[in-house]
Amino acid sequence: MKILLLGSGGREYALALKLRASSRPVDLVSAPGSDALAELGGRAALDLEDPAGIAAWCREHRPDLVVVGPEVPLVAGVADAVRALGIPVFGHDATTARLEGSKAFAKAFMQRHRIPCAASHTVTELSTGEALIQNWPYGYPIVLKADGLAAGKGVVLATTGEQALDTFRAYMAGQFGEASKTVVFEEPLVGMELSLHVLVDVDADHATYAILPACQDHKRIFEGDQGPNTGGMGAFGPIPFLKAEDIELMRTTLVEPTVQGLQKDGLVARGVLFLGVMWTGSGPELLEYNVRFGDPETQVLMQLLDEDLAALLLEVAEGRLVARVLKLKPHTAITVVLAAEDYPEGAKKGVPITILSPAVTVIHAGTRKEDGQWLTNGGRVLNLATSAPDLATARAAIEAALPQVHWPGMQVRRDIGLKALKHAEAGKTVQDPW
Ligand code: AMP
Ligand code: GLY
Repeated sequence: MKILLLGSGGREYALALKLRASSRPVDLVSAPGSDALAELGGRAALDLEDPAGIAAWCREHRPDLVVVGPEVPLVAGVADAVRALGIPVFGHDATTARLEGSKAFAKAFMQRHRIPCAASHTVTELSTGEALIQNWPYGYPIVLKADGLAAGKGVVLATTGEQALDTFRAYMAGQFGEASKTVVFEEPLVGMELSLHVLVDVDADHATYAILPACQDHKRIFEGDQGPNTGGMGAFGPIPFLKAEDIELMRTTLVEPTVQGLQKDGLVARGVLFLGVMWTGSGPELLEYNVRFGDPETQVLMQLLDEDLAALLLEVAEGRLVARVLKLKPHTAITVVLAAEDYPEGAKKGVPITILSPAVTVIHAGTRKEDGQWLTNGGRVLNLATSAPDLATARAAIEAALPQVHWPGMQVRRDIGLKALKHAEAGKTVQDPW
């Protein structure tokens, strides 16, 4: 089975490892890929924002399946262009991808389908936003979101009116180009954040889905959730204190109305939806949709999933997903990100990496190879991932593996999953203060 995998980071590397472990032999080509991905298959030099170029490659090479990793190609219409050739794509059409590509579109969708979420105002005029900040009705922080894609940097939680005004004016002046000339203001939600991934297969005739285990990411660079936000410094799942009834509540209040809403709105969905959830005092509320797998959540999910990934993604891509409980290892999985010096402000590149023989899975996220030597080549450089019967044992396995991988300036959080572990050990639930 020939598979084109679009992307180049840790998420794609984790998907590639799992695709190659499928029951049928997989001939994998990644694009643009990386030196590490090239060791798992072929590589094609394609531009992720060029639907026509990707479609031309597919017309020539006829892959059996195209798997789209990041959101940018989905928003750019890559899935539409490839599907038009009759080639199955795991990844949403551009219209559906607006759930991530436009925060205003996503909020309108949530409100239309009565999905619990923060109260919000979508603003396109400078004077309207300034007046809103002056008479802000919800308490601080004021949450400001650039409408369009901003490489994960378009959300600011302003703790003062002054900071909100500065942020808002910078957005309207085009800090993220057109993406920030529409701004969504939101009520701040307080609670416990988690990541819920759902495979979705929706068109006019049917609507099926399959829920993956809930995970928790750690967005701040430093231990104890300190310092600036990153793309994610580590994740684990499932969450030990999350009960079956909690998942059921998210299913009925967030997932079902989303899937029904897609169908009512005439949207076609053939991929994954990643729901960013805040569990507040009044239950789970939806923070945002992502139309692709999370990074580093995917590294966790691929450790847990006990299914043939190529067959499963093809099922979604061909619009024949059977709603079911997915087969999972009875384990807790964890992934810890090893980040470059200066991340997240920058990333020191070209630093030689020592990799001895860690007894866990090594996932390449931002590396390149020169004369047989791995070098840092991005902010999030490597991930260590594993699974074990429980979270404490999984954490210990990573801890034991850490001395096996290093380079000067490497940053790592040693507390991935620790807060949740203590929460569980204290007998607390998802409703208890986090
Ligand atoms: P991003 O993943 O870049 O969209 O960042 C969004 C992050 O901002 C989420 O992961 C939350 O931690 C935070 N966030 C977004 N919306 C809200 C909200 N309404 N209240 C509180 N925090 C929020
Ligand atoms: N880990 C958060 C994200 O992928 O957006």
